[in-house]
Amino acid sequence: MWAMRAVVFDRFGPPDVLRIADLPDPEPGPGEVRVRVRAAGVQPFDVGVRRGTMPWVQVRFPQTSGQEYAGVVDRLGEGAAESGFAVGDAVLGSTMLNGNAELVCVPVATAVRKPDRLDFPTAAALVAASQTASGALHELAVAGEDVLLVHAAAGSVGTVATQLARLRGARVIGTASPANHDYLRQLGAIPVAYGDALVDAVRATGLTPTVALDAAGGEAIAQSTALGIAPDRVGTIVDDKAAAEHGARVVRAGRSPERLAEVVALAARGRLTMPVRAYPFADAVAAHTAVESRHGRGKVVLILEP
Ligand SMILES: NC(=O)c1ccc[n+]([C@@H]2O[C@H](COP(=O)([O-])OP(=O)(O)OC[C@H]3O[C@@H](n4cnc5c(N)ncnc54)[C@H](OP(=O)(O)O)[C@@H]3O)[C@@H](O)[C@H]2O)c1
Repeated sequence: MWAMRAVVFDRFGPPDVLRIADLPDPEPGPGEVRVRVRAAGVQPFDVGVRRGTMPWVQVRFPQTSGQEYAGVVDRLGEGAAESGFAVGDAVLGSTMLNGNAELVCVPVATAVRKPDRLDFPTAAALVAASQTASGALHELAVAGEDVLLVHAAAGSVGTVATQLARLRGARVIGTASPANHDYLRQLGAIPVAYGDALVDAVRATGLTPTVALDAAGGEAIAQSTALGIAPDRVGTIVDDKAAAEHGARVVRAGRSPERLAEVVALAARGRLTMPVRAYPFADAVAAHTAVESRHGRGKVVLILEP
């Protein structure tokens, strides 16, 4: 049946190469569930794939887009019922280049149950950022006695990393533009402006950072080591080249439904928040433009009508 709408692109380029296409409804394979998507995240990875700057990602035009979904199970593939999931269950999770669509089929083992108290947009917003931030804090062994410097603390990964670190008892210094400084305070971080004066601004807080997470790139690693943080406690999710130059760590937090479930549970209990910048599904171009701007707080999410 040709009924599902999905965000696709037919060539690499700027956001307006995206269009909404009608595609055949996908059928769940063995061990998969099909999810009717209610909200879908957009992230910098999607921008890079669409721009053609990630040649290691295999693309076939017309290419669908999106790595993050939240929705309701509407069909079970062979054997999927054994997992305990049933039609009607609300779920969220990671997928590969097909999440910005009305329907997505995913291996049941990768789906995480959505708590009732979490709405679909917030659930979708947490998918990638939670797994990345939680994995990064784990790899960097951030603990209660640490002072964590988060570069790009207002972004999706920074938002989760800041709050998880605070929950571990660490103190957090977060970099953002001044417009996001009150937001960082609400998350429990001490805000500082990024840019050439960052090292002095961090010193002016009176705290000495012991560990850093770079979600910004540019000078972030150099500035972190200039502040005296041991290179093996400087982790980046952005800049492999600078990491190699400074002996810093590339944090390759892999996907983990368990980590996602942990963060989702915290959010459902009101211990962690993620502001959503919501766009109607039909406005995928605007959503990509927003992510590509590299500014703003929280997470860009596409909303699909039930
Ligand atoms: N999302 C993931 O799971 C994931 C996984 C692996 C790698 N990454 C990479 O990690 C980076 C961040 O991802 P994200 O999803 O958190 O992005 P995002 O939500 O789009 O974050 C954008 C943030 O970056 C801040 N920013 C812009 N320029 C900056 C600078 N020069 N110094 C410090 N902060 C700056 C902005 O703050 P202001 O608005 O205040 O300017 C904004 O809050 C991206 O490069 C992405 O490719 C992400």
